[in-house]
Amino acid sequence: MTDLKTALGEAVAAAFAAEGVDTALARVTPSDRPDLADFQSSGALAAAKALKANPRELAGRIAERLSSDPRLASVEVAGPGFVNFRLSDAALAGRAAEVASDADHAGASSVLKPRKVVIDYAGPNVAKPMHVGHLRSSIIGESLKRLFRFRGDTVWGDAHFGDWGFQMGLLIVAVGDEGGADAFLGEGSGPFPADSPVTLEDLERLYPLAAGRAKEDVDYRDRARKATAALQAGHAGYRALWAHFVAVSRVALEREFGALGVTFDLWNGESDADPLIPGMVVDLKAKSLLVEDDGAQVIHVARNGETRKRKLADGSVIEAPSPPPLLVISSEGSAMYGTTDLATILDRRNRIDPDLILYVVDERQAEHFEQVFRGAYLARYADAGTLEHLGFGTMNGTDGKPFKTRAGGVLKLHDLITQATDKARDRLREAELGTDLDEATFEATAHKVAIAALKFADLSNSRTTSYVFDLDRFMSFEGKTGPYLLYQAVRIKSLLRRASEQGAAAGGVVIAEPAERDLALTLDAFDQAVSEAYDKRSPHVVAEHAYRLAQSFSKFYAACPVLAAPDVGTRGSRLTLSKAALDQLEIALDLLGIATPERM
Ligand code: ARG
Repeated sequence: MTDLKTALGEAVAAAFAAEGVDTALARVTPSDRPDLADFQSSGALAAAKALKANPRELAGRIAERLSSDPRLASVEVAGPGFVNFRLSDAALAGRAAEVASDADHAGASSVLKPRKVVIDYAGPNVAKPMHVGHLRSSIIGESLKRLFRFRGDTVWGDAHFGDWGFQMGLLIVAVGDEGGADAFLGEGSGPFPADSPVTLEDLERLYPLAAGRAKEDVDYRDRARKATAALQAGHAGYRALWAHFVAVSRVALEREFGALGVTFDLWNGESDADPLIPGMVVDLKAKSLLVEDDGAQVIHVARNGETRKRKLADGSVIEAPSPPPLLVISSEGSAMYGTTDLATILDRRNRIDPDLILYVVDERQAEHFEQVFRGAYLARYADAGTLEHLGFGTMNGTDGKPFKTRAGGVLKLHDLITQATDKARDRLREAELGTDLDEATFEATAHKVAIAALKFADLSNSRTTSYVFDLDRFMSFEGKTGPYLLYQAVRIKSLLRRASEQGAAAGGVVIAEPAERDLALTLDAFDQAVSEAYDKRSPHVVAEHAYRLAQSFSKFYAACPVLAAPDVGTRGSRLTLSKAALDQLEIALDLLGIATPERM
C-alpha cells in the first residue's frame, strides 16, 4: 500500500529516467496553488540547466510521458518549466477507501527492517524533585516510543531510574538521624522493613534539607559520602534501607507518570549497571583506553586536533581538547554519572542487544552524551551510529526562566496535572461541553483534556525549540491546541453515533467536492508525516498532521452535509471519509500519547 504522493514521485522518476534525466531531481511537492494542482515538480528546471536544454520543452516531454497515467486527471507545464499534477477523483477515492479499511494504521506503512530499540526517557531520581527537563523528556520519549512501535520496531521504554549515587547517602544519613533507619540497621526495635514508617513524604521532606545541609556542613557531607560508599560496597542494612527508598519512590512515580499517560517497559536503575563497572574498568584498562589524569581515571575522547576555547577559573582562556575526557573513576575512587551510562550500554547489550538506543534528555547534557558515546564506540561497546542523544529546549515560565509550579520551586507532576485539570474543567463548563455527562465521566474527560493540552503544547513545537508555559493558551478550544483536536475527534464520533442510530451505513467512496478532495489528500499525507517524524525523531511532524487533518475535516463537514447528503450513495461515501478521518486522527493523537474521550 503506497501513498499517492510516493506513487506519483515514482512515476515522475520513471519519466525523468526515460528522458535521460537524473531521477534525483524528480521530487514532487504539494502544490503552492492548490486551486490549480495537487502536486508539482520543479525538477525539469534544474535538469534543463545541467543538460543545457530548454526547460519548458523538457518539462513538456516529461508531462507528455505522464499524460496517460490513469491516476492523473491533468498534467500541465506551468511558468518557466514546472509540471503541475492533478490527481484523478478516482485515484483519491481509491486511496481514501484504502485508508478507511486500514483501521490499525490508517494508511501509514511500517519499516522494512524492524529493529530493536531502547528509548531512555524521563530519568526521574529517587527523592530528588523533578524539573521541566524530566517532564519534556517524558512527553517526547513516550511519543517516540509509540511512534517507533507503530512502525514495527520492537521498543523498550526505559525510565532509567536515578537510584544510585550521592543522593542515596544523603537520604540514609538524614533518615538515620531521625531514627527511621533503625528497622533496617537492626539498631532499634522498629517494625519489619516492609512496614517501615519511612514514606515518600519523609523522603521528599528530608532530601532538600539534607542536600542543603551538605553544602554547608563538611562533617555532614562526609557522613553522606561514607554512607554512599558503604551502600555501594554492599552494606546489608543500607542496601535494605535503599531498596525501601527505591520501592517507595517508584510506586509514587509510576502513579504520577501513569496519570500523565506515560508508561515504561523497564524501570532499570542506575544501580543495575553498577555490578558491571569493575569488569568494565578492567576491560577499558586492557584496551589501553583508561589513562591516569591528575589522580583520576579518564578516557580521552577528543580526536587529535579537536579543541575548543575554555575559560579557566582565573579568567584565562586556553585551547583544550573537546569534548573533554570522560571521567570514569574520580580521584576519590568513585564511579561517575558517565561511568554508569557506559556500563548501562553494556547492560543493555547483555539483556537486549539493541540496534539503536535513543536518549531523550535535556540539551544541556549534550556534551555528557557525546563523551559517553565516543567512549562506547572506542571501547566497541556499541556499533558506530547506534547511540543517539535527542536533546530538547526548555519549557520556560513567563519570566523566561525554566518553568516552576506556583507552589514555588520544584515541579510536582501531580500539582501540574491538578492545575491543568482544574482549568480544563472550567473551560469545558464555559464552552458548555460535557454538561450532560455524569460526574465521573465529566472528570475523566476533564483529565483527558488537561493531558491533551499539556502534551500537544509540548509536541507541537519542534523538539529543539524552547517554549513558554501558558496554560490559558494550551487549554483553548480554538487554534492549534490539544483541546481543539479532541473536540474535532469527539465531533466525528458523535456524527458516527448518530449515523448508526439512524441506520445510515458507510459505503464506497466518491470524490466530487473540493473539500472532499482536500480531505482525501490529507488522509494520503499521513504516511509521509509518520515516516518523517520517525526519521527525524520528531513527533512534531505528527502533531502538525493531526492539526491539518482536524482542519481539513472541519472544512469538509461545513461544506458537505453527511447525514443530510443528497443521496444514499453520497451519504455512504461521506460516512466512510468521516470514519477514515476519525481513525487517522485518533491514531495520530495516540502517537502523541493523547487519549480521546467518547463524548464532550
Ligand atoms: N537522572 C538524570 C537526571 O535527572 C537523567 C538521566 C538521563 N539518562 C541517562 N541515561 N543519563 O538528570
